[in-house]
Parts: sequence; C-alpha cells; structure tokens
Amino acid sequence: MYVITGVTGNTGSVVANALLDKGEKVRVVVRAPQKGDAFKKRGAEVAVATLEDRDAMARALEGAKALYVLSPPDLQSKDLVGSKTKMFDGLAGIAQKTRLPHVVLLSSIGAQHAEGNGPVKILHHAEKVLGAAAALTAVRASFFLENYGAMIPMARAQGILPTFSPAELRMPTVTTRDIGRCAAEAILAGPRGRRVLELSSFEASPTEVAKTLSELLGKPVQVQPAPLSAIVPTFTQLGTSTEVAKLYEEMFQDGMRKMAWEGGSAEQVKGWTDLRAGLQHLLG
Ligand SMILES: NC(=O)c1ccc[n+]([C@@H]2O[C@H](COP(=O)([O-])OP(=O)(O)OC[C@H]3O[C@@H](n4cnc5c(N)ncnc54)[C@H](OP(=O)(O)O)[C@@H]3O)[C@@H](O)[C@H]2O)c1
Repeated sequence: MYVITGVTGNTGSVVANALLDKGEKVRVVVRAPQKGDAFKKRGAEVAVATLEDRDAMARALEGAKALYVLSPPDLQSKDLVGSKTKMFDGLAGIAQKTRLPHVVLLSSIGAQHAEGNGPVKILHHAEKVLGAAAALTAVRASFFLENYGAMIPMARAQGILPTFSPAELRMPTVTTRDIGRCAAEAILAGPRGRRVLELSSFEASPTEVAKTLSELLGKPVQVQPAPLSAIVPTFTQLGTSTEVAKLYEEMFQDGMRKMAWEGGSAEQVKGWTDLRAGLQHLLG
C-alpha cells in the first residue's frame, strides 16, 4: 500500500494516478472526504488527515510500504518555517515509530543549504529528519514551469512577462507532471537508503520563456525585470504574509546563488517535457 498526500494538487495527483494506472494499491490522504472521491472511484482507499495531525497521519500510514509527501504552500502563514518544521518533525516521529520503509519527499533545488535559500530551508530540515527516520528519496525539483502560470494573463493581455530573476539567467526548470512521474518511479523502485534525485526537464531563462510564449500566442512578449526591492510589496499585495514574502526575497537574493544543484552523490534525472510542450500545456 502506497500512501500519497497532496492528491488534489499538482504533483500528488500525478503520483497517485500513475500508481493506480499500474494497478498498485494506493491510499490517498485528503483534508476533506469528498476530495478523495475521484481516487475512490479508481479503487484507492481514502484517509482523512492533515499532515499536522499526528494521530490521523499515524492511522493513514498503517501498513504503508511508502509515503509521498510534500510541504504544502501556506502563503498567509506568519510562521511558515516554524509550523512546517513542527509538521515534518511529527511525520518523522511517526515514520520512526511505525518503521515506515520508505519516504519519497518533494524537495527542491538548493535544499542542501540550511540557510539563505528562503522557503527551501524547510525542505533542508525535512530531508534531515525524514532521512534519519526512514529510507528517504528526496526528489529535488528545479524551478516549476507552472510558476510562470500566474503571469500568463499579463503576457496575453499586455505582452509582458514580469520576473524577479535576472532576464538571461538559465534556470533548471521542471513541469509538475514530470515531478509526479519521477516520484511514482522512485516509489516503485523501493527503498534504497538515502537517495537524492536532482530533477529538471530543461533549462530556460525568462527571456527564452518570453520568446516561446510569443511564438505560441502569436504576439510579442517582453520580459519585464523587477528589482528585488519590489518582492515584498508585490507578494504581500498578492495576499502573502510579510514573513512569507521575506522568505521569497531571501531566495531571489544574489542572483539566486543558493538555488543550484549540490552534485556529488546526487543522481541527475532528466524530465520528459520540453519548454514548448510545457508552455503549450499551461496555455490550455
Ligand atoms: N514552485 C517551485 O518552483 C518549487 C520548486 C521545488 C519544490 N517546490 C515544492 O513544491 C510544493 C508544491 O507542490 P505541489 O505543486 O504538488 O502542491 P500543490 O499543487 O500546491 O498542492 C498542495 C496539496 O497539499 C494539500 N494540503 C495543503 N495543506 C495540507 C495540510 N495541512 N495537510 C494535508 N494536505 C494539505 C492540498 O490539499 P487541499 O485540496 O486540501 O488544499 C493539495 O493537495 C511547494 O510547497 C514546494 O515545497 C516548489
């Protein structure tokens, strides 16, 4: 039985469906029963729990061969690092107590650093505590192509693509479908001690994304770089807490210097989607 969290979201849905497609036994964890209906119809068990609820998560993990877990966004949190640290400490405690054989964690590029990487420091901690409690596969995903999704209406209407990263900086980028597929494969590969997978579908700069968007939309799209000083006001205007906005400001500092691969014993994994196909999917 594979226990999958985040199944109403981008990556968890792909992981659960990929395993069900292969006829594997799946238990999805949802925060409200009806959110599991589509998976129940496909033969999955449904457990109702939040990742913070230790008793409910312990029940959800009964008989599990592996857990897929992520750090769900909580953009209005006034203590994101504190609350997620507590959440992962709780999950690690359950993993240890129940002798959970395998955890597959959605981690991030830059998670080798304990500081200076904004919200990614949460995943550094998650890797540490989960890795001490069970065999861990950390899927360190690069920059999500879906991050551009929020800017697509502006690209369509005004022909601009705002960015806080340098216009020519080529970032390893991944689609969430590729993450789900990679995580499902990691689950099926089974526990193999501590593995770090550095996953990227392609490299692309904001300028290259704008150029491909131009071609797909049939109209000019120009990158519009914004200064780092605009991050906190922009994020808070969009509804995040000041604490969360400051974490993103930290991540973008120094040309995103800390958002780089660790290398060494980490395994490089290439996704399956290219920039054009990924953007085409986002445009719908
Ligand atoms: N953006 C990037 O460039 C990037 C790069 C590397 C890694 N990441 C990581 O990827 C994560 C997002 O992954 P994603 O896109 O797959 O997630 P997502 O689409 O935002 O979905 C979040 C999922 O978590 C569930 N959830 C939210 N709070 C929960 C809670 N307290 N307990 C249990 N379930 C909860 C949601 O369920 P409901 O339907 O109940 O809300 C939803 O299914 C980020 O938070 C970050 O850690 C991001």
